[in-house]
Amino acid sequence: MIEITDALEITTEHTETHFPITVDGKVITAKEGELVLDAVLRCTEIPHVCYHSPLMGPIQTCDTCLVEVNGELIRSCGHTVTENMKIVASSKRAQDARSEAFDVILGNHMLYCTVCDNNKENCTVHNVTLALDVQHQERPYKPKPYEVDMSNPFYRYDPDQCILCGRCVQACQNVQVNETLSIGWELEHPRVLWDGGQQIGGSSCVSCGHCITVCPCNALMEKSMLGEAGYLSSMPKEALDKMIDVVKAIEPEMGYGAIMQVSQTEAKMREDRIKQTKTVCTYCGVGCSYDVWTKDRKILKIEPLHGEANQISTCVKGKFGWDFVNHKDRLQKPLLREGNGFREASWEEALSFVTSKLGKIKQQYGPDSIGVIVSSKATNEDGFLMQKFARAVIGTNNVDNCSRYCQSPATMGLFRTVGYGGDSGSIEDIEKSALVLVVGSNTTESHPVLATRVKRAHKLFGQKLIVADPREHEMASRADIHFRPRPGTDLVWLCAMSRYMFDNGFAKLDFISQWVNNLSEYRKSLEPFTMEYASQICGVPLETLETIAHTIGSAESMCILWAMGITQHTMASDSSTAISNLLLTTGNYMRPGCGAFPLRGHNNVQGASDVGAMPNNYPGYQDVADASIRERYEKAWKTSLSHDHGMDNHQMVDAVYDGKLRAIYLAGEDMISADSNANHVAGAFEKLELFVVQDIFFTETCRYADVILPAAPALEKEGTFTSTERRIQRLYQALPELGESRADWKITQEIANRMGAGWNYEHPSEIMDELASLSPLYAGVSFDRLAGYKSLQWPVAPDGTDQPVLYLEGFDFPDKKARFHPVAFREPLERPDADFDLFLNNGRLLEHFHEGNMTHRVAGIYEETPERYLEISEELAKEREIESGRWVRVTSRHGSLVIKVVVTSRVIGKQVYLPLLSQEGPVNVLTGSHTDDATNTPAFKETAVRIKVLPDQGTNPIKPLNFRYSGQPTPQNGVEVERKWKRSDYRMPGTQPLVQIHSQK
Ligand code: SF4
Ligand code: SF4
Ligand code: SF4
Ligand code: FES
Repeated sequence: MIEITDALEITTEHTETHFPITVDGKVITAKEGELVLDAVLRCTEIPHVCYHSPLMGPIQTCDTCLVEVNGELIRSCGHTVTENMKIVASSKRAQDARSEAFDVILGNHMLYCTVCDNNKENCTVHNVTLALDVQHQERPYKPKPYEVDMSNPFYRYDPDQCILCGRCVQACQNVQVNETLSIGWELEHPRVLWDGGQQIGGSSCVSCGHCITVCPCNALMEKSMLGEAGYLSSMPKEALDKMIDVVKAIEPEMGYGAIMQVSQTEAKMREDRIKQTKTVCTYCGVGCSYDVWTKDRKILKIEPLHGEANQISTCVKGKFGWDFVNHKDRLQKPLLREGNGFREASWEEALSFVTSKLGKIKQQYGPDSIGVIVSSKATNEDGFLMQKFARAVIGTNNVDNCSRYCQSPATMGLFRTVGYGGDSGSIEDIEKSALVLVVGSNTTESHPVLATRVKRAHKLFGQKLIVADPREHEMASRADIHFRPRPGTDLVWLCAMSRYMFDNGFAKLDFISQWVNNLSEYRKSLEPFTMEYASQICGVPLETLETIAHTIGSAESMCILWAMGITQHTMASDSSTAISNLLLTTGNYMRPGCGAFPLRGHNNVQGASDVGAMPNNYPGYQDVADASIRERYEKAWKTSLSHDHGMDNHQMVDAVYDGKLRAIYLAGEDMISADSNANHVAGAFEKLELFVVQDIFFTETCRYADVILPAAPALEKEGTFTSTERRIQRLYQALPELGESRADWKITQEIANRMGAGWNYEHPSEIMDELASLSPLYAGVSFDRLAGYKSLQWPVAPDGTDQPVLYLEGFDFPDKKARFHPVAFREPLERPDADFDLFLNNGRLLEHFHEGNMTHRVAGIYEETPERYLEISEELAKEREIESGRWVRVTSRHGSLVIKVVVTSRVIGKQVYLPLLSQEGPVNVLTGSHTDDATNTPAFKETAVRIKVLPDQGTNPIKPLNFRYSGQPTPQNGVEVERKWKRSDYRMPGTQPLVQIHSQK
């Protein structure tokens, strides 16, 4: 039992929201809405096996938290406090009832802790056994007549160990909201069910891991833990079974005390072999953080709990997508081109080659003949040093990052209207919002954990959800309204919404007159955008648009989420601007629970731009053309700096063709796969005099390199990432750098020093200190302030005060006022016609990250989704007389590829969808070079194609194990414990003789 500390403050405040209650005779102040359990736990420790956290809420299945109130036994997790409530937790009756309840639990769970891989002093069942000092079981353990389910590549379910607490169900139903799990309370032997009774593999389970994370014992476990965590657990099964039998045999005589002591000692010993390191996810921009458990280089499991963005949540990539770190394909030595191939080289040779070539090219053609491309997967510190290298060592502003391929237009829209290029609030604000409008974002697959918060608020708390997307993805299928604007026309309906607000009295005129400039020019620009016009251009029924407008106009608060469905069009910056204009029109800025949320794709794409990997900005979005800012940097870096805006990624490719760019130093970006018009990009790379690629794998892009430098992934380095909600978080080194690979900042420093820089950074914290000293946005950021799970959301003042919600006191312009920015519509540049009759859309898959360089090297993910495919509609399949698995040649105006089709109702008519997997060659051979005017972001999502049906019929590219194959979720509100209470063999402990659940009589 945990002792109550002296430090515990027990006050007796009485206000509207706080009032006195009594716990075991002690008067304390309780807060309205507080659970009785939480109030009791402030005074004394009692078990609470099924209750996990406020996010999960009360589950009420275990009965181990019983206390007396007014002489009655109640589940303390299932009730909230009332004024003057008298709670008795320490009475014999309450204690006996709790012990009785736990005895029932042990009837469902065999205690073989010493040989159990879950036993590292964090197993709830183990800990409660100790806390209650259980010596013997009244109700003997009885196995259930079910097999262990090993059919999922990542985790197993052992029904014999399952205590039926329902935590997993609650997590799956109400936190992850995948709605796969339930408990078959009416079965003779209740158990957890996947899709009502399927095996796990092939069910709707998306392997997010929530259920495993919250399971209080070993019933659900990561396969990577099995036989690895314990000292004895790797024994052959027969030997293990024998040991378990011995333990059972001696238990009646010795009691659990001695047995548990042995297991406690063994659990303590595990601390020596298992290391727990806090890290931040290396995949998407949600910014999930968690502990990674490692044994030498083996990754045993990912344990989320304390992350501000995610708490217990992860998606399949964060939870299980780490095998790539130890994959045999990891680059471990520098490679130098030799003829048509590469040979291994020493660092000395490789770096000498790089620096002498760079030096010669700089001397011969000038600094602007060199370009530097920074990785948005690398840390802020890696990025900061690379842009400093470009500016202070090479002398050019030709520096960019891959936000050019996705996020620059969103940033532009926000720069124009509200000032800061980032989400205006936090994920918490999205949860709180009365209405969430999702535009061009497959949130469930691209930002999975953030999507869970929307799905949860929609399912449990009445949040309204509107989705605009040509494709019916999961979020669309859940929405109150899903509509499909004609691709490339979102600007029109967005502007029409704004006009409708003004015309129909929904516009927040008081807010606008106080806080927004440019109203009359803006209203004039809206004149063409009537609802009728929007209906005609976007192909959406007028009534649908009007319903949406009313919903937006009458919502108390609205968040708009958008992503690549908006930002990868020729109108990308203007459409993003239209979104922000609509938020201003409806007064949805300057308070919690509303605002603009451009969802950042890569883990550190926000950070890469923040730290100055942009051709026009120093760190913190400070213009390189501003003399006073430049002087500050020149003083700090002791060198003169270029005042010309540099070239972005896209311009760099064109400049190679023009002979202006001769060398590129690129880190952690598979540009051939990620940039549009792959053949055009490849042609440019072939022309370069020097192409240096720094990466962890040999990517498509590496084929064109002259030198390849082996870098280290996130788990092997220290640093910080900045997530979509502007949250800066620290990652710690969990593993040593593999082979001769090195952290990016170390490589850049080596190159810089060989070119005379004289840098002397010994730790990334020093790089952050320099960034903080030069960029007001990061002014108060330091590694100390980010220790452990602490995080800061920029802008961070010098005293460390951060801003989870932006613009609470005004917008980021000199007069503190936002600006309406008028926009106009023009048709997409590339459209279907008679030759190319289909519209090609593309995007990410949940289980793979982008082109799949990392996730294809994760065995379990590869098992479920090994190949790419093209989604076609049922109508098109019928018209062309083909079915899933048929090979087709897809041809655009820019290139072609051969691929299998999947027939699905997610897409309609002549729209086809291509997930971004490039293992068999870049999918971007199909996309063209046309871009958004303002940012040069390629219009990846404006491509017309045709398909030629090939003779071969293959197997369905979606494998039977994949959740898309035959999954059928079983939505219900949590665990539905009332069904348990209705069983004839159920009695509340302490009330009547208790019967263990084992049969339905
Ligand atoms: S989706 Fe699968 S892994 Fe995620 S909580 Fe549900 S059952 Fe567990
Ligand atoms: S599998 Fe689910 S119901 Fe069973 S013990 Fe684990 S969390 Fe509880
Ligand atoms: S990929 Fe994104 S949602 Fe998934 S765990 Fe990582 S940060 Fe979280
Ligand atoms: S913790 Fe209250 S019933 Fe389980």
